[in-house]
Amino acid sequence: MSHKNILITGGAGFIGNHVVRLFVNKYPECRIVCLDKLTYAGNLANLSDVEAKPNYAFVRADIADIDEMRRIIREYEIDGIIHLAAESHVDRSITDPLTFARTNVMGTLSLLQAAREYWESLPERYDGKLFYHISTDEVYGALPLSHPDGIPAPFATRASSGVSHEAYGDEFFTELTRYNPHSPYSAAKASSDHFVRAWHDTYGMPVVVTNCSNNYGPYQFPEKLIPLFINNIRHRRPLPVYGRGENVRDWLYVEDHARAIDTIFHHGKSGETYNIGGFNEWKNIDIVRLLVNTVDRLLGRPEGADLDLITYVTDRPGHDLRYAIDSRKLQSELGWEPSLQFEEGIEKTVRWYLDNQDWLDNVTSGDYQQYYARMYGNR
Ligand code: NAD
Ligand code: DAU
Repeated sequence: MSHKNILITGGAGFIGNHVVRLFVNKYPECRIVCLDKLTYAGNLANLSDVEAKPNYAFVRADIADIDEMRRIIREYEIDGIIHLAAESHVDRSITDPLTFARTNVMGTLSLLQAAREYWESLPERYDGKLFYHISTDEVYGALPLSHPDGIPAPFATRASSGVSHEAYGDEFFTELTRYNPHSPYSAAKASSDHFVRAWHDTYGMPVVVTNCSNNYGPYQFPEKLIPLFINNIRHRRPLPVYGRGENVRDWLYVEDHARAIDTIFHHGKSGETYNIGGFNEWKNIDIVRLLVNTVDRLLGRPEGADLDLITYVTDRPGHDLRYAIDSRKLQSELGWEPSLQFEEGIEKTVRWYLDNQDWLDNVTSGDYQQYYARMYGNR
């Protein structure tokens, strides 16, 4: 299936900018339209290296504004949509759940409906069209921690991908795991996933849904664990570890996620769900220690000198204990594999944040938001 005009929503955010960059550079024959509201999490500086490319266009818009979605999809004759725009931070969803429902649920619904109206108005209808919805492993809820005697089934896959970190239990999220979201963020994402599948089953819209584990890498907003802690270690600020730091996440380098999105967009089967993950489970406290050691070493401080910054704080309400993705379907059917060992990815990531202190200072000061307000008006 070859798409000519691809709309990428949330392209100015963390994962989105890596997807936009990959598509703009890899598919010069396609027009890549990046659509973003530029909330606090969206930053056009993330895309400065592609903004002058002839096949790139940017539109500032809110996905919950259905008339705008209708206009943009028609104006750019969009035939493929990769939908990443969302409110993405669990802690913010606890204090401001309605914004998450508005963007993640109503925004996705507006985009779906606008795409449906346009595609159904064309003579070829849904031929050559695809609505690709990016979702999260958090919709599946939480897995228990256990220490099985035997080797869990996906271990062989993990070893063959060159990633050898130990699993913290013998259960994994598969594409058939029942939805059981616990936070307002994951409840809103779960709801949007259901709407996307309903548009496939009810209207015949070609859709794909993917559920990915935790991403890390350059350009992540420093409210999330890894960039927040790198910045705090550098400035010798406290590192607020929730609870006892025993929660487990499955980490994937963001460019590996972007490659998976490319593979699935072009070769995934309509109506299917694919899980994306790194078979790379880490306890939060172990990541925090790894970050301290890496930042200290790269800044020429004695390794581990800043471990005393670790501060255990009140746990996040509803904090999911363990996420672990089984991505064997994607690996066996479409041949995707994660490319980086975690230690290598963390080293690259820490170096990037240390080398890009201006970017961090800019997004933490909010200066870029004032700039957008002047350029586009307040929205
Ligand atoms: P992010 O918060 O960094 O970026 C979100 C982007 O969406 C921002 O550019 C923001 O301006 C834009 N946006 C927000 N509300 C909008 C609206 N109403 N209209 C248009 N644009 C809007 O998020 P991220 O970490 O890049 O996540 C991207 C997607 O991937 C999300 O759907 C998220 O649920 C999913 N996801 C993220 C991870 C992860 O670890 N970060 C893992 C799995 C899935
Ligand atoms: O699993 C995929 C999800 O990963 C995505 O869908 C979300 O958009 C993304 O934000 C991420 O969610 P998490 O809640 O897992 O990410 P976060 O970086 O907020 O937290 C990672 C872990 O670290 C989690 O167990 C909470 C803990 N934590 C986080 C912060 C910000 C702390 O202990 N202290 C902190 O200050």
